[in-house]
Amino acid sequence: MGSSSTCFFAAISLICLLMCASSINAQLTPTFYAKSCPKLLNIVRATMAKSVAKEPRIGASILRLFFHDCFVNGCDASVLLEDTPTFKGEKNAYPNQNSLRGFKLMDIIKRNVEAICKATVSCSDILALAARDSVVLLGGPSWTVPLGRKDTRTASESAANANLPPATANLATLISLFASKNLTARDMTALSGAHTIGMARCTTFRSRIYNEANSINATFATSKMANCPSVGGDNNLAPLDMSTSNHFDNGYFKTLMAKQGLLHSDQELFNGGSQDAWVRLYAKSNYAFAQDFVAAMVKMGNISPLTGFNGEIRKHCRFVNQ
Ligand code: HEM
Ligand SMILES: *[C@@H]1O[C@H](CO)[C@@H](O)[C@H](O)[C@H]1NC(C)=O
Ligand SMILES: *[C@@H]1O[C@H](CO)[C@@H](O)[C@H](O)[C@H]1NC(C)=O
Repeated sequence: MGSSSTCFFAAISLICLLMCASSINAQLTPTFYAKSCPKLLNIVRATMAKSVAKEPRIGASILRLFFHDCFVNGCDASVLLEDTPTFKGEKNAYPNQNSLRGFKLMDIIKRNVEAICKATVSCSDILALAARDSVVLLGGPSWTVPLGRKDTRTASESAANANLPPATANLATLISLFASKNLTARDMTALSGAHTIGMARCTTFRSRIYNEANSINATFATSKMANCPSVGGDNNLAPLDMSTSNHFDNGYFKTLMAKQGLLHSDQELFNGGSQDAWVRLYAKSNYAFAQDFVAAMVKMGNISPLTGFNGEIRKHCRFVNQ
């Protein structure tokens, strides 16, 4: 074979390799584990069901864990990593420290999955499924979860601080933080409906109930002060949606219309700005909320996933593989 044809075959192989790699790199797909782990969805669902039955709030905590994973360098299970000698992880970033929950439950689900499908399913995909199951188990809408994410080998505390929205954020800041993930203001408002479940610590809403006379119902503010003193009690909890904090519905948007949003960032969605119309629609129609929430959850789950040969299937969700 002449050197020119050797070169020709080398070029063809290279092109093929690039094309194969990019097709493996393609979209996430709901059937990713259909052959390799057909019981996956049942295992995750059963473990979540048991856990939510014992403590409904854990569903909220898992949903938030997924959000905090996806917003920091994509849905790659970076949020689950412990600190290492080479990087500071995300667990102690300001929005996460003393706040984020669900790590032990993630370990349990991962263990149950590993028992049936060894070294097959990524922690990032398990988290995406567990978040969907949380919503469903608490009475919210269901959706099909695209799968095929790999797990990252690194994490970043500073990226978590820079990318996760604080409760003090105003509407413009919220919109721009979500826009940086290619999520629209409408996606942001629908996704904030996740605050229909779960709790917040006094430290996240103190300044709102003591200092924001105009945008808060006075009776509501006073009632929250009982368990959130002006000094101390930082970790005392209040439901984000006072109406039904263990039930996933559109009640959150009704509280916003009554100036009873708990966080400053919540009330920003209904305070005379561009999102008022969406809040009104979602408060009126649980169906419209469910539709937009589900669509936005799928979009959020698609933020910069590692696929194909990128990343790894972690053996333990807290540690990169050796
Ligand atoms: C729009 C910007 C957002 C801000 C500023 C924000 C902020 C917060 C804060 C401050 C808390 C209370 C944390 C604590 O006190 O420990 C919280 C809780 C929560 N957040 Fe958000 N959040 C936002 C969007 C989202 C999104 C997009 C989701 C999910 C799709 C979400 C899901 C939750 C859930 C479920 C809880 C309750 C967690 C639990 O009870 O363990 N949040 N959020
Ligand atoms: C957002 O979209 C742009 C343009 O398609 C792309 O370059 C960028 O990577 C996307 N960002 C994220 C976080 O998905
Ligand atoms: C504030 O909330 C209370 C209790 O829900 C309600 O009775 C009252 O009318 C509200 N006040 C205003 C000014 O909307």
